[in-house]
Amino acid sequence: MDNDILKVLYSEEEIQNACKRLGEEVKDDYRGKVPVVISVLKGAIFFTTDVVRNIDMKMEMDFIDVSSYHGTTQSSGEVQLVNDISTDVSGRDVLIMEDIVETGRTLKFLIDNLKERGANSIKVCTLLDKPAGRVVEAKSDFIGFEVPNEFVVGYGLDYAEKYRNLPYIGVLKPEVYSHN
Ligand code: PRP
Repeated sequence: MDNDILKVLYSEEEIQNACKRLGEEVKDDYRGKVPVVISVLKGAIFFTTDVVRNIDMKMEMDFIDVSSYHGTTQSSGEVQLVNDISTDVSGRDVLIMEDIVETGRTLKFLIDNLKERGANSIKVCTLLDKPAGRVVEAKSDFIGFEVPNEFVVGYGLDYAEKYRNLPYIGVLKPEVYSHN
């Protein structure tokens, strides 16, 4: 897989340091509360498990699977709910865990959806924020890194469902996706 990577943007160590920092920030913010942490599958799985292990407080966890890129480098523009949470979030303080916020469509879909279900508060923790890709307004409360406008893979992020298991985040060589 390493041969398909043009450059490494964030090393394993840099990612783990960001997870520690974000864990502290979240813990300070939710003091005295028991949040419901919702991980957005599939991309946020590694990030979620690394951050929550840096949060020493009671919480509940759930998972929601939404998809809009369908393995490509471009958002389809339509967010599909693939698998829902099982937690009743009515009156709860919800923390959404994302790997990346790009167009903002996924986040808008999730926030609208959770508001409709009566969540008391909704905050967002994302490892990567790509403001240059924004199509709809979407703000995160806790951000790991602001990324340049490049297609990135690794640490949960895929191209055609591959590369999620890279321990770092990197830029894929353009020929890898232009030849497929
Ligand atoms: C990716 C990523 C975010 C979303 C962000 O998910 O994991 O959830 O896109 O993009 P946006 O801000 O443009 O909406 P994807 O649809 O690729 O599904 P996946 O996580 O299962 O790969």
